Amino acid sequence: PAANASRTSQLGFKPIQGSKADAIVLPPGYTHDVLIRWGESLFSSVPDLDATKLDAGVLFEPKAAEHQRSQFGQNCDAIHFFPLNGRSDHGVLCVNNEYTDDALMFPRHPGFRGLRGAVSREYVKQQQQVVAVTKAAQGVSIVEIVRKRGSWQFVKDSKYNRRITADTPINIGGAARGAALMKTKDDPTGVRAFGTFANCAGGETPWGTYLTAEENIQDYFANLDQLKARNDVDPFIVDAHRRFRMWSAQCPYNWDVVDSRFDLAVTPTEPFRFGWIVEIDPLDPTSTPIKRTALGRFAHEGASPVIARNGRVAVYMGDDDKFEYVYKFISAGRFDAKNRAANRNLLDQGTLHVARFDASGKGQWLPLVFDPKGPLNAAAGFRDQADVLIKARMAAYLLGATPMDRPEDVEANPTTGRIYIACTRNESRTVEPGTTTYGGREIDSAPNAANPRGANNFGHIIEIAEAGDDHTSLEFSWEVFLLAGDPSGDRLITDLTQVKTDSAYYAGYANAAELSPIGSPDNIGFDRIGNLWIVSDGVQPHVSNNGCWVTPTSGPNRGRLQQFMSGPVGCEVCGCQFSPDNETLFISIQHPGEGGSTAKPRSHWPDGGKHQPRSSVIAIRKEGGGPVGS
Ligand code: FEO
Ligand code: CA
Ligand code: CA
Ligand code: CA
Repeated sequence: PAANASRTSQLGFKPIQGSKADAIVLPPGYTHDVLIRWGESLFSSVPDLDATKLDAGVLFEPKAAEHQRSQFGQNCDAIHFFPLNGRSDHGVLCVNNEYTDDALMFPRHPGFRGLRGAVSREYVKQQQQVVAVTKAAQGVSIVEIVRKRGSWQFVKDSKYNRRITADTPINIGGAARGAALMKTKDDPTGVRAFGTFANCAGGETPWGTYLTAEENIQDYFANLDQLKARNDVDPFIVDAHRRFRMWSAQCPYNWDVVDSRFDLAVTPTEPFRFGWIVEIDPLDPTSTPIKRTALGRFAHEGASPVIARNGRVAVYMGDDDKFEYVYKFISAGRFDAKNRAANRNLLDQGTLHVARFDASGKGQWLPLVFDPKGPLNAAAGFRDQADVLIKARMAAYLLGATPMDRPEDVEANPTTGRIYIACTRNESRTVEPGTTTYGGREIDSAPNAANPRGANNFGHIIEIAEAGDDHTSLEFSWEVFLLAGDPSGDRLITDLTQVKTDSAYYAGYANAAELSPIGSPDNIGFDRIGNLWIVSDGVQPHVSNNGCWVTPTSGPNRGRLQQFMSGPVGCEVCGCQFSPDNETLFISIQHPGEGGSTAKPRSHWPDGGKHQPRSSVIAIRKEGGGPVGS
């Protein structure tokens, strides 16, 4: 049976051990290309970032921001591959650039102290330049790529190449378009936002567009206390910020200091224009991206669309914060495979739902719909559907959604339709019954059936089967698929009624000797035969580097999870996207060297020698060809 199972899962690689090496570690017979690095220019008219100056500690160049607007952004995250002419060796790659690390961008940066008080004109100019560069290094990078004589490279000057930054104009679609909370001085009608940032994971639609998810947007907005002190601002606006953890004074990115959009005391409604899913047409570089507000506003990890049997589109989404929720949008209209243009606004109309996981193993998708006679009405703080979408976290709380251990990627298995949710971890999940105040409300912090470990230090994965295998169903059954950790010794359980804080559970797989330890699952992906691929962001059981793992989801080897790849020191591994022929696995290496300084780098990946580390996209292949993992 084992031989048969490995044929059906086609996983024949020799698993690797967790590694602390400052390198990409792969099984024997595998190789990788570094496809594109932070600072490489997409156009020959603009120079690449001068990495030697970075190494030498030069603060920045006068044209750094202008150049960065044409260069690959920093800290790559989600990756999606859009084939050109149906090919697996030629396509357009959409890559998120989630955030910036000032310490790595501006070596020997004296530290950002803001512009208030007595500062020199030179200092003001410097800070303006820092903000301009970091705004340009976030957002999305779109780049044509091709595989030639076996190795992948990007195509400079391709007509598809494009940068979308924290200042790019983006239309607002869906019920929150034009809503009172969406209006600002710069956009008095609330129909056009400026930029996208904190872009974490993403998704692709069946009509060939890219979805980018705005996640930790709260870290860009400062001075909540000053906003609260203003007595000329509608208290409704102030209260609407409660469920996002906005910064009371200074915030990590300091954009507010030179751009009042990010100063809550000056622009109280700007944050409502972020925290959305943004749809981008990668094949039309002149198109304006659109924020799809019908999909709700929260710390979006990603968005995974699936076409239901009746033609409606279900989009599965996680809200990555402690004790937040899992969502599903169902479109009102139906997908038309023969008419791409007809699908372009499918994500503007439909119903957003949030998941409640019951101890019985069943669950419900609860609709987030404004209704004067229902729970989401004026008395509950919602004047219309726009308020419900903008304050989706509050609405979900009032409906009794199940608070989860940081839901990251939510993806559908292409062979079974089952849905997998990666909950990365939650150190604040308590062992004993109790409540905690987190995210602007009091919440039950005790373990629940779908989040069975307190504390949850290594994360877990939940598997959902929609009732009748119908993605528009409002009922589902669910089970725990994985409790991450170290399966060696007596930690591995095969019976979930035995769960303890340090238990590991691998879908019931009993042979610990064949399993790899894993912690902090984040992005997940599927190959076309339904193996679940997992990449990690955070602590590992043996303090090894983040990496990539794979497990079959059906057959006798269901749950036999083994490590496939390990990343360089200090990085998070994200992306996890296959070419259609499954012969290439695209991975983002985000923040290599994190925790070090430019004076004492912890990593020199990928340039080697004494170079500073640089986030980059890699393409992994099997030497001599064949599906990755075989
Ligand atoms: Fe940006 Fe939830 O990881
Ligand atoms: Ca990240
Ligand atoms: Ca993530
Ligand atoms: Ca993460």
